[in-house]
Amino acid sequence: MKRLIVVSNRVSPPSEEESGNQGGLTLALSAVLRESNGIWFGWSGGETETYTGNINFQKSAGVTTATVDLEPQDIHEYYDGFANRTLWPLFHYRVSLAEFERGFVDGYERVNTRFAETLLPLITEDDLVWVHDYHLIPLGQRLRERGVDNRIGFFLHIPWPPMRLMVSLPNHQELVESLFAYDVVGFHTEDWLDSFLDYVRAQMDAEIRDDGTVVWRGRTLRAVVCPIGIDARAYAETAQGETARTMCRQMQASADGRGMIVGVDRLDYSKGLQERFLGYERLLATRTELQEQVFLLQIAPPSRESVQTYQEIRASLDALSGRINGEFASVEWVPVRYVNKGYPRDVLAGIYRAAKVGLVTPLRDGMNLVAKEFVAAQDPEDPGVLVLSHFAGAAAQMPEAVLINPYSPEEIADALAHALTMPLAERQARWRALMDGLLEEDVTWWLGQFMAALDPGTTETVELA
Ligand code: G6P
Repeated sequence: MKRLIVVSNRVSPPSEEESGNQGGLTLALSAVLRESNGIWFGWSGGETETYTGNINFQKSAGVTTATVDLEPQDIHEYYDGFANRTLWPLFHYRVSLAEFERGFVDGYERVNTRFAETLLPLITEDDLVWVHDYHLIPLGQRLRERGVDNRIGFFLHIPWPPMRLMVSLPNHQELVESLFAYDVVGFHTEDWLDSFLDYVRAQMDAEIRDDGTVVWRGRTLRAVVCPIGIDARAYAETAQGETARTMCRQMQASADGRGMIVGVDRLDYSKGLQERFLGYERLLATRTELQEQVFLLQIAPPSRESVQTYQEIRASLDALSGRINGEFASVEWVPVRYVNKGYPRDVLAGIYRAAKVGLVTPLRDGMNLVAKEFVAAQDPEDPGVLVLSHFAGAAAQMPEAVLINPYSPEEIADALAHALTMPLAERQARWRALMDGLLEEDVTWWLGQFMAALDPGTTETVELA
């Protein structure tokens, strides 16, 4: 097997402990990195006064990580700035939240160049290089400029915006052109791929061939749709493990016979949390018989806290949850349990299993793995119902969920009422269909699809331990 070098802004090395706390993506990438004796390169999350390019190598659970610290100005302009104040809102269709500053572009270019220079000596002849996400779009080009002619792939974990939004980015042309340094570019859904193809067709006059290759000025890339999955079998087992079972029992006891609706999201404006709260408020106001009978548990760990839009969403959710509780609560019942901290995945599995409804209502989301994990954690005999936004990438693979328009409080309220009263046979049938899909297109399948495109000669498959 060829050696794989994975590059991402955030590096989350696997830990030696049980897999229950670790993300599915980390586990999947770790499996292939371990087998290929590969390296995972990226930002340590730490700061240094002046960038040195010194690499901190670590080996954990058989996986080698190579991380670098960044300067405060890099973090401000590259991570907080261009990645999270420009690209993140724009790629989630929120142009009015996007900030366009040349300093951010400079910082983004600088960090991508620094990454390329630092990574260069680690790349050997036959290595495959796989770059992840919007922080590192120009990295492939920076590597090519330094003579790297290995196969390099890129995977975008967030949506690709429609062409008419993309062109509002002052440096859109340069950014998209830089993608042509890659051999393979992967998206989660046909929608994101179509938006990309619209752009290259109309703005760059690129040739799109029937076999999925795109040709522009002598460079050819293969654009693929490759929706990320979870390790559904393993997560279903996690949901029956000791930690999850204990948590499930605790939640059932604390629910005291009331139906639990659960949401778990990073505190991010793309997740539609305000709209979700408003939909739930509508449910309580219009179906008064459900008052005292249900509650919403919203787990929302803070995220990207130095960015102002994230501070604003936090303040507005504090106000909204307070308002709903003030309006509807009784001395014995709190309608919204709003929790600003994160929980390990095995604990979450128990919470999901205790819930009647999983409420996943992003306004726009590349994929959304909470939707998938909620389903995988359910008891097949008595499964909860997934209420899912049409605008999550996951909706394309999960038509048996109750699909809603997250902008409509009425639709959310109707869907919640429908889910809370759904007959057992229908819940089971929907769950079975969803779970079959998750088992079929799981994380190993995703990895296999992308790796087959990146290294077309390979016949090897990766098995997760
Ligand atoms: C999204 C992005 C990831 C990112 C994650 C957490 O899922 O696609 O690249 O790592 O959010 O965000 P953070 O800024 O904390 O890394």
